Amino acid sequence: MFVCWKQFLVLLWLFLAVEAAGAASDEVPHISHCNFCQQCDVDAAPPVRHRSRNLQEMQSEMQALLHHLQSQDHSHHTPSRTRRLRQLDPATDDPKKPPELRWSSYMATANDVVPKQLLPNCTRCRGCSTELSFMAADSHYFNRTYTNERGATSSWLFKASTARVPSGQAVVKVYCMPIPKRPGARVPSCSPLTVLRTMTLMMALERISLDCGLDDILPNVWVDRIEAVVPGVGFHIRWYGLWMELIPGISLENFLHKGDPKRLPPEQVLDIMHHKLNKSQVVRAAIFDLLTSQCDRHAQNIFIDEEGRLRLIDNEACLQNSWKNCGFDSVLVPTTQKQEIVRMSNQFIAKLVPAHKAPHGNADPQLLLDYRCYLEGNDTMGTNYPPQVDRCLRKISAMTVAEVEQHYQLPSTLTAQNLHSRATDMITKGFEWAAKFGEPRNAPPKRYMMQPKCCQIKWEHDRYRCAHEWKPVFEIPIGDPNTGREWTKARPDTGTYEGGTRY
Ligand SMILES: *[C@@H]1O[C@H](CO)[C@@H](O)[C@H](O)[C@H]1NC(C)=O
Ligand SMILES: *[C@@H]1O[C@H](CO)[C@@H](O)[C@H](O)[C@H]1NC(C)=O
Ligand SMILES: *[C@@H]1O[C@H](CO)[C@@H](O)[C@H](O)[C@H]1NC(C)=O
Ligand SMILES: *[C@@H]1O[C@H](CO)[C@@H](O)[C@H](O)[C@H]1NC(C)=O
Repeated sequence: MFVCWKQFLVLLWLFLAVEAAGAASDEVPHISHCNFCQQCDVDAAPPVRHRSRNLQEMQSEMQALLHHLQSQDHSHHTPSRTRRLRQLDPATDDPKKPPELRWSSYMATANDVVPKQLLPNCTRCRGCSTELSFMAADSHYFNRTYTNERGATSSWLFKASTARVPSGQAVVKVYCMPIPKRPGARVPSCSPLTVLRTMTLMMALERISLDCGLDDILPNVWVDRIEAVVPGVGFHIRWYGLWMELIPGISLENFLHKGDPKRLPPEQVLDIMHHKLNKSQVVRAAIFDLLTSQCDRHAQNIFIDEEGRLRLIDNEACLQNSWKNCGFDSVLVPTTQKQEIVRMSNQFIAKLVPAHKAPHGNADPQLLLDYRCYLEGNDTMGTNYPPQVDRCLRKISAMTVAEVEQHYQLPSTLTAQNLHSRATDMITKGFEWAAKFGEPRNAPPKRYMMQPKCCQIKWEHDRYRCAHEWKPVFEIPIGDPNTGREWTKARPDTGTYEGGTRY
């Protein structure tokens, strides 16, 4: 009882203190003195950049913290949000650590001095560091209008003003929003430890891509605090999120299939794919996807702009950090399910129709993203990598797993192990060997044959067709293509061989 009263009095005192501070002048109140605020002036000093802090030092602290937390994190399996949060031991959240390295930085309430509900709502306030707007529904490229895709994530995406990039605009991804995305919807789930791990991974990918000369194919990303209100709602966002440079262009999915008033004519699609596509980027994007074992590389996660420049987005499903049941799966890398779906279409890969019935000769323009089309005088990459890739593969391969983990500040030993073994295979046995036999590896029902490339496509009789002789094999492996386990469905398994035994 005594404790309750004590708490109550502390809160009352805080409440009065805040009220007094607010009442002391006629000034527009600071956002920290408001609960909801409809309009927040951006007048805070720009977010502090920790330039002076040694990145290495900062990241090792994050890593140490993650190691400590790993044993305690059962959050993936706990349905109730309150239970999840209770499992986070406040003692693991060392206030002396830089905020980016603390899980409490990634959620709303952990750092509130005064519970927000005790504060008044404001129509106008000040003290924000950025102005958020909802992502534009449309974008305009190639003389048409495209509807931007909304990923299926539980995080919120905003456009945000920032001085950090020349365009002044970034995208910010906010995790652990305690309010539903739409009225009446559920509050998104929140696991600050998972968010912290993802942030660590994103920073590690940034380092890897810089080291290997692959940074021009990824958007620049950084972690920083957001001090802003949700437009139209007034909810105060006051924690850390993932910032991304706003990249020009549209997804390949949009480029190939959508667009108003009508999609780009196939002749123009082919002209751009054949003549404008940045071929050095295609080759290096395949290298990036195999090296980092990307598992979610489909047409919505590849952006193309009017100059034929590519950017890979949504790169966090990698190195088996989150999806354990996937070795790698990228439309850019032969032998994967995603590339086979492009070649044959999903109904054959899902085994609804036997693969040998797939139309022969049809060729999706995405097949022009095959790196083998852009190698000089050779059908295989082998160990002929661009010089900077070669250097970085040798460097990774020469380190121990522990050194790799330390050097790139990866979020776990497993991710370091996966990077190390892939780099080693790629530099000693070559790209194709690594894709066919290396680790991490897909389950046999998801290991497809290395099909011949189709590098010239024409539009004929209302369909895309390969414009040169092309004889892929219309067979797929035995087993369940979703789970990677045995086939258990009532309809027959249309697979004809054990995956991984034929290429
Ligand atoms: C402030 O606004 C929120 C959201 O509209 C509302 O739920 C809350 O009751 C308001 N608080 C006060 C004190 O009016
Ligand atoms: C858009 O249309 C203009 C005028 O019709 C043309 O000059 C331009 O090349 C088109 N741009 C693209 C990317 O198709
Ligand atoms: C491809 O992209 C790279 C780096 O992004 C750039 O240096 C190069 O000039 C581009 N190539 C072409 C043909 O546009
Ligand atoms: C093609 O690849 C083979 C095997 O990796 C190699 O011996 C040969 O030198 C390569 N040719 C060219 C032109 O790069």
